[in-house]
Amino acid sequence: MTDRIAEIRAEAEQAIAAATDTHGLEEVRIQYLGRKAELPNLLRNVAELPAAERAATGKAANEARKALEAAIEQRAEQLAAAELDQRLERDRVDITLDGDPVPQLGHLHLITQTQREIEDVFIGLGFNVAEGPEVETVYYNFDALNFDSTHPSRLMTDTFYVQPTDDIFDPSARLLRVHTSPVQIRAMEQQPPPIYIVIPGRVYRPDNDATHTPQFHQMEGLAVDTDITLGDLQGTLLTFARAIFGDERQVRLRPHFFPFTEPSVEVDVSCFNCVGGVTAEGERCGLCKGEGWIEILGAGMVDPNVFGYVRRNGYDPERVQGFAFGMGIERIAMLKHGVPDLRLIYDNDVRFLEQFG
Ligand code: PHE
Repeated sequence: MTDRIAEIRAEAEQAIAAATDTHGLEEVRIQYLGRKAELPNLLRNVAELPAAERAATGKAANEARKALEAAIEQRAEQLAAAELDQRLERDRVDITLDGDPVPQLGHLHLITQTQREIEDVFIGLGFNVAEGPEVETVYYNFDALNFDSTHPSRLMTDTFYVQPTDDIFDPSARLLRVHTSPVQIRAMEQQPPPIYIVIPGRVYRPDNDATHTPQFHQMEGLAVDTDITLGDLQGTLLTFARAIFGDERQVRLRPHFFPFTEPSVEVDVSCFNCVGGVTAEGERCGLCKGEGWIEILGAGMVDPNVFGYVRRNGYDPERVQGFAFGMGIERIAMLKHGVPDLRLIYDNDVRFLEQFG
């Protein structure tokens, strides 16, 4: 009987050594130590053996069982360690990767970016930001800005009137503002001088082509104080032009006409694509059309007649002076970034928008 036990033990030890994974090892264990296996059966039945064999068989079987249990335990540890190594190798985690996928962030639209950039320049110069309604009255949009009753902008072909109105000269008739200038009046009604504000906002005109959309954006400026001169206007706009278009820029003022400024000027910035209309390659500059100058805005000294409408609030034309300017935000953005067609700004094509992220 002890021979048979030695045989089982040798066979089992081989099988344990040959097991290649924990699952296979468990099968070996069941085969040799399980409830139906030969060795445990032998042990259970030791009592039935002849007395002479009992002690030797029981001892040998017990030793064999203990030895096999120990061998299985040892092999199980080896296999478990090897399997863990394999798993770690397979599931290797790169801790230098980002934890979660980085979400794709959006960004502000080019017009909003440009508006804020311009605001920042003027905030740096001590201006505040003011706003006003887009649906205006004839009074604020035209009358209080000294527009003559014959001014062509008042016609229905040039201005969107909101309610059907028989009388476009009724000061309370409603329209979509054609410029941000009415907020000059509203701001002066609310605040006595001195006043230094910029006014961003949407404006509306019945135009539609490569350089005009029916809705666009303006940035108005108004400074009223004592001893304000055209030189202050020029210096302010020079600072603005250099902040937006580069340190080398110059500005020049050309005489113009606006109903609400006197004198009125158009303001040009020196071209940032050439010198004097000629590019570095010696060709005529396409951006300024060989002029060397690019028009960027309209401006002037606040007309005393305009102060007349807010005189009650401390704007005595004998005591205060002011300058005002108004620029198209789209125009500034297009010039600065070389956008060839205004309509690109409103098409919402991501291939365009993403360039300003
Ligand atoms: N409101 C004028 C326009 O829309 C611009 C302007 C503003 C001119 C302020 C002078 C002073 O064309």
